[in-house]
Amino acid sequence: MSTVKAIVFDAYGTLFDVFSLDQRLAHHFGDKADEINQIWRRKQLEYTWLRSLMRQYVPFSEVTAEALLYACNQVEVALNDAVKEDLMQQYFNLATFAEVPDLLQQLAQKYKLAILSNANLAMLEAGAQHNQITDCFTKILSADTIQHYKPTPEVYQLAVDGLAAPKEHIVFVSSNTWDVAGASAFGLQAMWLKRGNKVLETLGFEPVKVLDKLDDLLNL
Ligand code: LAC
Repeated sequence: MSTVKAIVFDAYGTLFDVFSLDQRLAHHFGDKADEINQIWRRKQLEYTWLRSLMRQYVPFSEVTAEALLYACNQVEVALNDAVKEDLMQQYFNLATFAEVPDLLQQLAQKYKLAILSNANLAMLEAGAQHNQITDCFTKILSADTIQHYKPTPEVYQLAVDGLAAPKEHIVFVSSNTWDVAGASAFGLQAMWLKRGNKVLETLGFEPVKVLDKLDDLLNL
């Protein structure tokens, strides 16, 4: 693997823990919360892919709201504006996983760091601010800039352009296996952060490294 100049992170599920969403969903939907949550997350991803293929881009916040409505319709519960607003607001206040702030501070001493996410810049900047990690990043990069979603190659190109480093020198870290495949296909040094019991995609685009924990980045 070439000399690492920069480390780029996916946001949700990698740096930010969406668990606090689970708690608000339980508050609003009780015993239907888990089912709604599973459908919501899957449909949020599906809609980014469908809208990219349809060339009908809308910002991630809108796609997320569209997916939430689908999930509530599927489970046959009403979604009123107050509940929708409360859940969408959670995306602006997500906590990072516990190890993230200290680790980013250490990594920022050695590498240029960035976030590369489908989310709108406002969501990402709010999340970084909420967790006091804004200063760790050289760049916060949003797919909204080019109005395409991951795993479209142009999104990963944002990291190359934004960090002014060749793709061979940029490590990309994601817990989302489809995102790892996309970054690998583009040519970044993709690393899969294993959170949970998923398995890698079988598309033939492999990570250069599997990280059991984020701290493994300290020994690149
Ligand atoms: C993102 C999602 C895919 O931040 O985690 O782009």
